[in-house]
Amino acid sequence: MEEAHEPAWWQTKVVYQIYPRSFADSNADGIGDLQGIRSRLGHLQWLGIEVLWLSPVFRSPMADFGYDVSDYCDIDPVFGTLADMDALIADCHSRGMRLMLDWVPNHTSDQHPWFVESRSSRDNARADWYVWRDEPANNWLASFPQGESAWEHDDVRDQWYLRCFLREQPDLNWDNRDVEAAMHDTLRFWLDRGVDGFRMDVIHLIGKHLDEDDPERAVARGVGHVPFNDVPETHDRIRRIRAVLDSYPGQRACVGEVYLLDEAKMAAYYGDGDELNLSFNFGFLWAAWDATTLRGKITSTLDHLRPRGAWPTWVLSNHDVPRHRQRYGGSEDVARMAAVMLLTLPGTPFVYQGEDLGLIDAVVPPERVVDPGGRDGCRAPIPWNDDPGHGWPHAPWLPFVADAGVSNVGTLDQQPDSILHLYRELLHLRRDHAALQSGQFTMIERTDDVIAYTRTPTDPADTRAYTIALNLGEGAAVVAELAGGRVLTSTIAGDLTAPADEIVPPHAAVVVLHA
Ligand code: NOJ
Repeated sequence: MEEAHEPAWWQTKVVYQIYPRSFADSNADGIGDLQGIRSRLGHLQWLGIEVLWLSPVFRSPMADFGYDVSDYCDIDPVFGTLADMDALIADCHSRGMRLMLDWVPNHTSDQHPWFVESRSSRDNARADWYVWRDEPANNWLASFPQGESAWEHDDVRDQWYLRCFLREQPDLNWDNRDVEAAMHDTLRFWLDRGVDGFRMDVIHLIGKHLDEDDPERAVARGVGHVPFNDVPETHDRIRRIRAVLDSYPGQRACVGEVYLLDEAKMAAYYGDGDELNLSFNFGFLWAAWDATTLRGKITSTLDHLRPRGAWPTWVLSNHDVPRHRQRYGGSEDVARMAAVMLLTLPGTPFVYQGEDLGLIDAVVPPERVVDPGGRDGCRAPIPWNDDPGHGWPHAPWLPFVADAGVSNVGTLDQQPDSILHLYRELLHLRRDHAALQSGQFTMIERTDDVIAYTRTPTDPADTRAYTIALNLGEGAAVVAELAGGRVLTSTIAGDLTAPADEIVPPHAAVVVLHA
C-alpha cells in the first residue's frame, strides 16, 4: 500500500496577508512597521492565524510602496531593521506561526545599485543585467501609468530599457544567468535567516519573448500584456527557484503571483510538483458574486489542478484590488458568506488584513491619493479600536475607512456575533477539523442560486462528512443534503447546536457536520 503523506503546512494552514504600512505603527510616524506587527501577533493568534505573508519590507524608494526594491537583503528603515525582522521571525516561530516574505524578481527599483551601474554605460559589468535595446523591441504597454509604453529611453546609454510597471521599476534580464544567480542569493539570504517561504511577485513575467508584439496592446487589470506573456523559459527558471527552496530543511514554500486569468495556464505553473508550491488563482478572485459563475470557477479550477496533484489557492482580496465586500455590492451578509466559502473550499485560503473586519475600501480624496495605480482604498490602515486615532499613535499615511468607529478590532471583539468572530469561528473550525483542510471535495450539482458542497475525511474509516451551503438568492432554498446534520457554524444568528435545517434563508451560509 502506498504510504499516505501528511499534508504540508502550506496546504493545511490559512495565510494572512499583512500590508505592513497599514497594519500597526510602533514608532508614531504614521506608517506601520515590523515592531507594530510583533505587537499584534497575539491578536492574530487569537483569531486563529498560523501563517503570515508580509508585502515587501525591503529597502525601497517606495515609488510602488515596496514593490520597487533597492536592496533585497535589508529592511527599509520605515519598517525597522534587520534585527527587528530577526525578532519577528523568532516571535512567529515561538508561537508556532510561519512567516512568508514578498520577493519581487521581475524588476528592481531604478535606485538599486545594479541598475545604477547598468545604466551608467553600455559596457559596464552589469550592462546586460536589465533589458536594453536600441529601439523599443515591441509594442508592450506598462501597467503604470496605464497606456504608457513599457520601453523607457535612457539618455546616458541612449538606449531603451524595459519596464513592465513604473519607469522606476526596470525589468531584470533573467536571460542572464548572473542575474538569476544573484536573485537566488537574495532568496538564500532570507532562507538562511529562517523565513518559511515567499510570495513571488508577477513570477510568470520572468521569462519573456521580446520579439512578440502584444496583439491586443493590453493592460488587463493593471498588469500589462497579461494575455500572452507565458513562455517555456519561465518554467525552467521557476524549477531552479524551487530547487533553491527545496535545498533547505523545514518545508520552505512559495506561492506565485501568476497573473493569468486562464486556469489552464495558471495550473501549468505548478509543473510536475517541481515548480510553484502554490499559485494564486485570480480567475476566481475576479468572478462575479453569482452562484453559477462561482460554481463554474471552482469546478474548472479543480479540473485543471487535480490531474496534476496540484494544490489550489483561494483569494478574494489583496492590496491591489477593491475589497471583495465592495466588489460584491457592499452588504455584510455577502461578506460573511464569502468568508464561509473562502475558508471551506479545498486548498489554501488567503485572508487579506481587514477582510476579517468586514472592511470595504476607504474613500480617498484626490489630494490624498498616493499610489500610481490608484489602489489606495483597499490599503487603508487597520482600525484597532474606536478611539479617534483607532490605535494609531500618529495620523496614518492613508485615511481610515468611513465606518472605522464601528468596524474596528476592539468594537467587533466585544460583539460575539460580529464578522470578526465569524472569521475566528471558521479559522478554528478549519484547524480542528482535518477534513476541512485536506479532505475530499464534492460539488453538489445545482442550477439555482445555491453553492453547496461536501468535504469528507481522506481516511475512509472516518465517516464524518461536512456539508457547506451558501444561498446567494433572494428566496429561501432547500438543500436536502443538510438534513440530519448538526450546524457547526453559520451566518444565521441563533443556536449553533441546533439540528440542521434543510432550509437555508436568503443570503446565508451554513457548515453542517454529519457524524
Ligand atoms: C503585483 C503587486 O501585487 C503590485 O502591488 C505591484 O504594483 C506589481 N506586482 C508590481 O510589482
